[in-house]
Amino acid sequence: MSLRFISAEEAASFVKHGDNVGFSGFTHAGCPKVVPVEIAKRAEAEHAAGNPFRIGILTGASTGDSVDGALARAKAIAFRTPYQTNGDMRAAINGCELDYFDLHLSQLAQEIRYGFLGKIRVAIVEACAVSERGEIVPTIAVGITPTICRLADVVIVELNRRIPSGLRGLHDIYEPQDPPGRKEIPVYAVRDRIGTDCVRVDPEKIFVVETDRDGEGSDFAPVDGVTERIGNNVADFFVSEMKAGRIPSGFLPIQSGVGNIANAVLSSMGVNPDIPRFEVYTEVIQDAVLDMMRQGYIRFASGCSLTVSNNALHRFCGDLNFFESKLVLRPSEVSNNPGIARRLGIIALNTAIEVDIFGNVNSTHVNGTKMMNGIGGSGDFTRNSYLSVFLTPSTAKGGAISCIVPKVTHEDHNEHSVKIVVSEYGVADLRGKGPRRRAEEIIANCAHPDYRPLLHEYLNRGVKGHLPQDIYACYAFHHALRETGSMRNTDFAKYPQG
Ligand code: COA
Repeated sequence: MSLRFISAEEAASFVKHGDNVGFSGFTHAGCPKVVPVEIAKRAEAEHAAGNPFRIGILTGASTGDSVDGALARAKAIAFRTPYQTNGDMRAAINGCELDYFDLHLSQLAQEIRYGFLGKIRVAIVEACAVSERGEIVPTIAVGITPTICRLADVVIVELNRRIPSGLRGLHDIYEPQDPPGRKEIPVYAVRDRIGTDCVRVDPEKIFVVETDRDGEGSDFAPVDGVTERIGNNVADFFVSEMKAGRIPSGFLPIQSGVGNIANAVLSSMGVNPDIPRFEVYTEVIQDAVLDMMRQGYIRFASGCSLTVSNNALHRFCGDLNFFESKLVLRPSEVSNNPGIARRLGIIALNTAIEVDIFGNVNSTHVNGTKMMNGIGGSGDFTRNSYLSVFLTPSTAKGGAISCIVPKVTHEDHNEHSVKIVVSEYGVADLRGKGPRRRAEEIIANCAHPDYRPLLHEYLNRGVKGHLPQDIYACYAFHHALRETGSMRNTDFAKYPQG
């Protein structure tokens, strides 16, 4: 059958109040950009007419403003999963306007298949090509697209003419079997391809909306003094680990998290002459990775999305011949698969909001209550990596907050999984150390010098037992922050010892 082209407004009319809608994309990369905005307009019109209109949103990870921003502002969301980064979405979550469920990104597609999250009625996916045979070629991210397209009753394809159809061949589309009897995913090396170059669905359920939209990514912040020092500390640490024989001389695949710090760390690794050319098996491929591939520092990159600035995207599209044999985009349940992470021996580099002196990490909740972004893939990789590394500046908000605290206010990764902590001051190696030695290591090497005396005072309060955690004083830093605006004013004398 021939393709059915419709307007964005018509496409939006397929979505009903109460529907679960699956969106393509992973971060702003690969997200639809016009139909969700039309859905938001519809929601506003329905609300104005006194009718309810709220939907469930399931995506690969965060999205662009056209999905999360537009729908949050229109108060059109009843339920949202997983990771998000949009300011309006974050405000809606923290304002309890919707039900937000955060989970490990590798698990989302299978939880949809298992039926844990309800029926996906409509899938809205961005593509750079679509055929009458039902072949859909995603743009610059895969996320959960194969699963939502297969399970949805209606698939709306935003055919984005801005992205060249020559991207076909970049993706490796594969859906694992469900238990019982699930076999291993046969990725044995970073560059292995195991699937197809497009998503295949019943053409009967496809409707196409043509668009011509640029990406919604912003430029990365330039590397500053703190991020540069964190990056150099990581690179120096890797070199010493190689010299000690604990990292193979040919190096191991790197997973690097989202954001400016992760971007800066990769750049530092690239310019370190003692780190060999390496491969990346990660979730998001950011600007630094593409630059480093051009410079020859990175040999191959496997990821789930090209989370790059528009400048980097335009250069990439003009350079497809160079990248086609050096890059693959996979579904998130493959890019983030715990079994593959352990098999390949991934070195996981992720950023923390706060780290406690015993090695527990908060990645998600500021002061234990306000959701920042979500756990993303950090749990998928941290628990299953060869070596898990957490990066953090020693302080936040001009020094009023120490990112090294007595006890994290929310725990995403615990002492059993976190091996290395790096700040601009140095590296804490937690491997094989009990709680007191871990604490000494983190305070001496990662805490800001201004906070070290306070952290020592906490550690030396004389609490008995294996873990010297003081149940009364453990949140004294956060208490001081709330009362005085700075953790520097912490007064442990106010608390009974316990
Ligand atoms: N208390 C309060 N605020 C803090 C803080 C703390 N301990 N630590 C950082 N912040 C604030 C910063 O001040 C900054 O605020 P701003 O946006 O108002 O400037 C914001 O948090 C982001 O911090 P920044 O230092 O710029 O780091 P980042 O952009 O690299 O983000 C995370 C850090 C933790 C939020 C981000 O890495 C994340 O979402 N991680 C979880 C998911 C993940 O790891 N995914 C990767 C897996 S592949």
